[in-house]
Amino acid sequence: MPYADLQRSLAGLLDGEPDLIANCANFSALVYHNLPDLNWAGCYLLRADELVLGPFQGQPACVRIAMGRGVCGTAAARRASVLVPDVHAFADHIVCDPLSRSELVVPMLKDGALVGVFDLDSPLPDRFRPADQAGMEAAVAMLMRASRIDAAAMASS
Ligand code: SME
Repeated sequence: MPYADLQRSLAGLLDGEPDLIANCANFSALVYHNLPDLNWAGCYLLRADELVLGPFQGQPACVRIAMGRGVCGTAAARRASVLVPDVHAFADHIVCDPLSRSELVVPMLKDGALVGVFDLDSPLPDRFRPADQAGMEAAVAMLMRASRIDAAAMASS
């Protein structure tokens, strides 16, 4: 599915719905079932000073990731996307599913503030290209525009 189609479907799913968890759940399902060659797609949400597993599709995954650790914590700390063509070459990669070979993590930012990260894993090496990063950044921006952020949830762990 080209990213323009994904974004059109996403606009329909998000229309009029501000609940972050519901939107993250549908976002994960849409991405997982429409982008080829993924084995995991989902959210880690900022809770106090760490990332905690949120809605996702794929195998069960590690629940808590410290800021700055792994690909997810690195993207969160930098507030910038991290594209990893070969997870075995990323020294601090956290293994959740040993089948994962490449990874793309996009920060979820609302009005400049970190809300969490969106993580995509693939069993194929070099699965993600700059076009995937741009397409996913645009999609995550739509998710963030539509969703209300619960400051109390974010402050607790
Ligand atoms: N590989 C990630 C951990 C999350 S799982 O892939 C779902 C990382 O290094 O942060």
